[in-house]
Amino acid sequence: MSKWNGLLHEYKEFLPVNDKTPMLTLKEGNTPLIPLENLSKEWGVELYVKVEGANPTGSFKDRGMVMAVAKAKEEGSDTIICASTGNTSAAAAAYGARLGMRCIVVIPEGKIALGKLAQAVMYGAEVIEIKGNFDHALEIVRAISETEPITLVNSVNPYRIEGQKTAAFEVCDALGQAPDVLAIPVGNAGNITAYWKGFNEYHEKKGTGLPEMRGFEAEGAAAIVRDEVIEEPETVATAIRIGNPASWSQAVTAANDSNGAIDYVTDEEILEAYQLLAKREGVFAEPASCASLAGVKKQLASGELKKGSKIVCVLTGNGLKDPSTAMDTVAVKPTVLPNEKDAFLSHIKGGVKL
Ligand code: F0G
Repeated sequence: MSKWNGLLHEYKEFLPVNDKTPMLTLKEGNTPLIPLENLSKEWGVELYVKVEGANPTGSFKDRGMVMAVAKAKEEGSDTIICASTGNTSAAAAAYGARLGMRCIVVIPEGKIALGKLAQAVMYGAEVIEIKGNFDHALEIVRAISETEPITLVNSVNPYRIEGQKTAAFEVCDALGQAPDVLAIPVGNAGNITAYWKGFNEYHEKKGTGLPEMRGFEAEGAAAIVRDEVIEEPETVATAIRIGNPASWSQAVTAANDSNGAIDYVTDEEILEAYQLLAKREGVFAEPASCASLAGVKKQLASGELKKGSKIVCVLTGNGLKDPSTAMDTVAVKPTVLPNEKDAFLSHIKGGVKL
């Protein structure tokens, strides 16, 4: 088995890496592309998931963050800052810790999944909650980074997009070519921008083809679909609770240029896909991630997606990040029994006494 050395090393030729760039890594990337055998059969498609929750901090953010933090250090910065719905802050805090940098994260009060907050504090970030949403937090950190010697590591930092585009390379390598369709959740719209860039660069170099890009916002935060800023975005998928995506126009370009689309899915559709994925396929992804699978289900039903298509759904974050939503979603709770074998046997045999 060949050794995986992390994104900066493995994809050096596609990334802004030079002699002075610290070769930072937590061995991010190289995540599994898993075929969904049961749902593929049921839905009449060839369906795969790109499990980004297998990254070191449990989300796709590690791909962009390793690049952005390495470049910040290379350029002489010693402090990084970001706004976050949780995953960006976890990744920034981890890579910042690795290089001994100060990391400041600004999060919307009370809307961060527990696991993500635990990560940021464990990695030693300075966590600031604001009485506002992600969009407000992003406005603040953008303004601060313009006047202070602090590097902004949100996806408006172009190095983030560079790192994140590597996921498209991996999808092409795993399948031998680009899929017919790439389905992806959309929040601030950095990731769809990055995948589209990645597919294009790989196609230019290796002739791997281009997929239709299908992005999915949550209904209560569907600014791009509605073509208007949502002042008070709301969704169970807190990671994509964003009403004014920073990479809005790039997302529209990716969808248009690829003959794809930006669509939305309801919270009910997200939670249904969240459970289907776990119960039918043994894959646990956080709710926002499941917007991609929910979108595929919706568009297969409407006929927008064709039977027989080869589809990759990006699962952006690990299900363990948000244990509260899992426990709130599933009605069945663990059964409490006395510490005794007979009671246990009787229970699993459906109450039949031996
Ligand atoms: N899925 C998850 C799990 C996310 O954490 C995010 C974004 C997205 C999807 C959307 O990606 O913003 O590139 O369109 N999370 C950011 C954060 C906003 O702060 O962690 P996007």
